[in-house]
Amino acid sequence: MGSGLTVAVFGAYGHTGRFVVAQLRDRGFVPVLSGRDADKLRVLASESGLDARPASVDDPASLDRALAGAAAMINCAGPFATTAAPVIEAALRAGIPYVDVAAEIEANADTFTHFTDRARAAGALIVPAMAFYGGLGDLLVTAAMGDWTTADEAHIAYGLSSWHPTAGTRTAGAVSRQRRGGGRVVYTKGRLEQRHDNPPALEWPFPDPMGPRAVIGEFTMPMSSPSPATCPFLRCART
Ligand SMILES: NC(=O)c1ccc[n+]([C@@H]2O[C@H](COP(=O)([O-])OP(=O)(O)OC[C@H]3O[C@@H](n4cnc5c(N)ncnc54)[C@H](OP(=O)(O)O)[C@@H]3O)[C@@H](O)[C@H]2O)c1
Repeated sequence: MGSGLTVAVFGAYGHTGRFVVAQLRDRGFVPVLSGRDADKLRVLASESGLDARPASVDDPASLDRALAGAAAMINCAGPFATTAAPVIEAALRAGIPYVDVAAEIEANADTFTHFTDRARAAGALIVPAMAFYGGLGDLLVTAAMGDWTTADEAHIAYGLSSWHPTAGTRTAGAVSRQRRGGGRVVYTKGRLEQRHDNPPALEWPFPDPMGPRAVIGEFTMPMSSPSPATCPFLRCART
């Protein structure tokens, strides 16, 4: 499927980065391993036989070297509050699509704020949050809507059998919590609102074998699309 196209993966030796590298290989792409730790990259490169190109978000030239010849860039290194902007800048310089897996709502909002106009002007693809929390919700809403062009609301409930946040996920969560000043954010009527009240509790009728469960309401998660046409209103909950 990938026809041997090269795709650079930043944060390639992280938990998510390794999944992405494996999936790219399975699909016929050639991953280029990148990230800030040259030693970890070297180990992964020797295990996989892939090219490793260390790069730092503080060193644009190193990012340019990491992206040289790549057809696309996938950023798996969070917190994205730190990594997204410099890696997007590098992708724009290289003229290649950028995808990340950020679950940091504020960082995603920053991406839309700072890069929407530039991406449009350059005809570039910049897609944040293309992951379980984020893109999956967009895809589910798109599939559920079929040929509808508008909807008032879309409700998505996450039912997780277990969850073991990695170091990267915990750090990213801490960055977002700090930016919220102890509150929570809700995406409603096309914008993010800061709230300091408790989220509503409700019951969600999950299908068997899970069955009805208590869930947290107004659990806003990131979006890959700022467009109301594809993401009218996500109100997400999880067990
Ligand atoms: N939206 C979703 O559903 C979803 C799903 C999976 C993951 N994520 C997000 O993806 C990120 C990674 O998660 P993970 O589970 O893969 O965590 P992880 O295994 O801890 O890996 C984190 C990766 O980020 C790198 N990193 C951290 N800060 C960096 C910086 N300033 N510059 C360059 N690299 C940096 C780490 O490199 P070092 O080892 O050198 O620190 C490591 O490669 C988290 O933000 C997580 O929330 C989101």
